[in-house]
This record gives sequence, structure tokens and C-alpha cells, in this order.
Amino acid sequence: MRKGRFHKAVANVAQRYSESVSFDHRLYRHDIAGSIAHAAALTKAGIISEAERKKIEAGLREIEKQIESGKFEWDEALEDVHMNIESALTKQIGEAGGKLHTARSRNDQVTLDLRLYGKEQIEQTSAQLKKLQTAFLDLAGAHVDLVMPGYTHLQRAQPIYFAHYLLGQVEAFGRDAERLRDCLQRTNVLPLGSGALAGSTIVLDRELIARQLGFARVSQNSLDAVSDRDFVCEFLFCLAMIGMHLSRLSEDLIIWSATEFGFIEFSEAFSTGSSLMPQKKNPDMAELTRGKTGRLYGNLMSILTTLKALPSSYNRDLQEDKEALFDSIDTVSAALELFSAMLPELKINRERMEAAANDSNLLATDLAEYLVKKGMAFREAHEIVGQLVADAMAKGTKLSAVPLAELKKGAPLFDVDVAEVFDVRRSLAARRAIGAPSPENVKKQIARWRKSLA
Ligand code: ARG
Repeated sequence: MRKGRFHKAVANVAQRYSESVSFDHRLYRHDIAGSIAHAAALTKAGIISEAERKKIEAGLREIEKQIESGKFEWDEALEDVHMNIESALTKQIGEAGGKLHTARSRNDQVTLDLRLYGKEQIEQTSAQLKKLQTAFLDLAGAHVDLVMPGYTHLQRAQPIYFAHYLLGQVEAFGRDAERLRDCLQRTNVLPLGSGALAGSTIVLDRELIARQLGFARVSQNSLDAVSDRDFVCEFLFCLAMIGMHLSRLSEDLIIWSATEFGFIEFSEAFSTGSSLMPQKKNPDMAELTRGKTGRLYGNLMSILTTLKALPSSYNRDLQEDKEALFDSIDTVSAALELFSAMLPELKINRERMEAAANDSNLLATDLAEYLVKKGMAFREAHEIVGQLVADAMAKGTKLSAVPLAELKKGAPLFDVDVAEVFDVRRSLAARRAIGAPSPENVKKQIARWRKSLA
């Protein structure tokens, strides 16, 4: 690459500073696929013969095999994955190898490779999300009748089904899958043929390349195509969002596993001990997942910051896109794999959840709605029930223990049928609007998600 223009060798320190092959070698399969498609377009354009194209393809396949078997020697002096493979090809097949880079720059090559890799990883992440969602559905199916308190502000609020909570998780990860499908739309665009920034006087059939590589569209502006890393930002955002969802899930599980709650227990296979306190069993997997969210956000911020003041087209700063993306992909992939394995092994303490859900104060809103159904304005009912709760608390009892005579002092509308209000399952059965946790709704949602994931 330096032959001709340069008289001085690159300084060792500069070479070490700028090489990317130590991390972008991960793109070798995509680089090779891209080069094979490029060679086909060069043949169609009359630049290389069919015999040369075949030689190039066979050479690249051979290099692929060498890389896969660990025999390929990566050379940091050759800077990146692209130069390493091109140089090995030329060594292997001679002159034809030197023709491959016609009408191509590493600027369109590197973003091609990253888009091919991104497409593959989007599929991979989507499949992992599906697996996690299935684990939630299995758990929901196994505990479909289990009630628990729902919380706001981490204070007991109203009863829900545990399955309703799990279905909430399925919804969140379903949105992540939807976002990935959308991100794929903008990743699925062929940049190759944009050259360094201004295409080439050698006209390639880019539609042909796109078809061969499985791209849905071809980029329409060469300058933008070598500049554009929106797809990297979007993917990093999707991954940060998945991390955020996993982190909130982790937080719930950590809290519920504390002795004070005792709703769940992590399997010993997914817990750690303390180096000092013999009794400890710690939820480290969930904590690590919560912690790793920080690097996912950091990677997103890092690429956005790298891009913010770049002049149009390619600048070497863009090399900084890859490590952030690789790290986020690895981090999320490991976390999704972990949770899919850990969830089925969670021990659910049904008695503890059920007992907590039977706190009749959770039905204070139901009591107010009882009065509303008898004609009272909600604000008035809210105040009356609030007073009843305060009185009961002052006497050290629960709302359900307040005698009818006392209730009637608060509001004459109270009658013997008020006793029915304090039945948790009756309350849940009444919550029938779309999205509310009636048992019918919960079962319907499990079935709907099963069908949509199938
Ligand atoms: N290693 C570079 C990157 O990752 C490849 C492109 C280099 N292009 C250049 N004109 N220096 O972005």
C-alpha cells in the first residue's frame, strides 16, 4: 500500500497505534464473501477474466479455511483484516490477486463487512430474545394461578398474577425484537461500489453484488455511504435497550430474592458464596447483568461522540466503531444466554408470594370502587377508604377486619356484600379490560405470545 508514494517506513509506534487487525479479524468471513461478490462484478465489467475470478474465489476459500483452522498468520504490519486477506491472496494466486481491489476502497469495504456482520448479529440477537421470551412463557405457564403483590414505588399496590409480571417481561423483550427488525432495514443496504468516496470510473453492477450478498437495497450516494454509521448507532441503541430491560429484570429478581421478600430463590448453580461469610448466597449473575448495562450505554455514547464532529465521508476515526459494537454484541449475547438458562431454575416461593398478596390493604382501591359502583363519586370514595385504612392501621388491624358497622359509619352505602371485595382472586377476575390481569387475559396472552413466537 505504501509502495510508490512513500520513502520512509511507518514508525513501529505508529503501526501499533493504528492497527485494527487485532480486533477486526472477526470480520474475515464477511470480508471474504464481499470480495467474492466484488470479483464477480469485476468480471461482468470486463476487468478480470472468468478464469481469474475462479482463481480469486478458490484462493479466498482456501484462506477462509486457513483462518478457521487457526493456521492463518495475522500480521499487524498489514494494518487490518482487509489488507491481511488481500496480501495472503496475492501471495497465493499471484497477479490475479492484485486485480481484486479494482474500483474498491477499504472505505466501502469496511462498512460492507460491518453491515454483513451486523445483519448476521441482528438475526442472532433476535433468536436469543425469542429463547428468553420462551423461558418467561414456560415459567408463566407453570405458575399461571399464582398471585403476588404488584408494586409502585416499591410499596405494595395491588394484586397481580405472577404470570402477568412475566408477560410484562415478554412484552419488553418483544419490543426489543421489533426494534432489531427495524434496525435491520437500514443495515440491509449495500455500500460496496461507493469506492473511497466518489465511486469509480469503472462501472460495477451494484445490483448484482447486492443480490449475491443478500442485501435488500443499494446505497444511493457514495459520499454518504462511506460516512454512514447510523446502523452501528442503531444496533448499539437496541443492545443498550436490551441491557436496560435485563437490568430492570435483574433488579426485581435481586430484591425478591432478599430474605425480607423471599419470593424467589436463585438456583445454587447460578449463585455465588462469600469469601468471608459462610451463610451467604449471592445473586451475582443478576448483579453483573445490571452492572454491564453501564458498558452498553458507554459503547453507544462512544460511537455517537466519535461521529459528532466528523467531516463528511471516511475518516480514520471510524475505525473506532468496531470495538464498541463487538463488545456490546458479546455482552448482550452472554447475558441473554445466561438468563435463558437461569430462569427455568428459579425457585418460586409460592407461599410467600401468595401470603403477601393476601394483604387486604392491597384491595383498598377495590373498596373505593365498590362505593363507586353504588353511585358515589370516586374522589369521595377515595377519601372515605383512606380514612378507614388510617383507622385500621391505628388499631393495628387490616382493612378486611373492620366490622360492617364501622364501615357504615364511614359510608352508609356499605352493605353485607362488602365481604366479597376482600377476595383477591375475585378482584383479579374483575380486571378484564385489555391489558389488565384477569386470569382469562393472562391465559390469552400466554397463548398469543406462544403463537407469535412459534
Ligand atoms: N481499518 C480501517 C477501519 O476500520 C479500514 C479502512 C481504512 N481506510 C483508510 N482509508 N485508512 O476503518
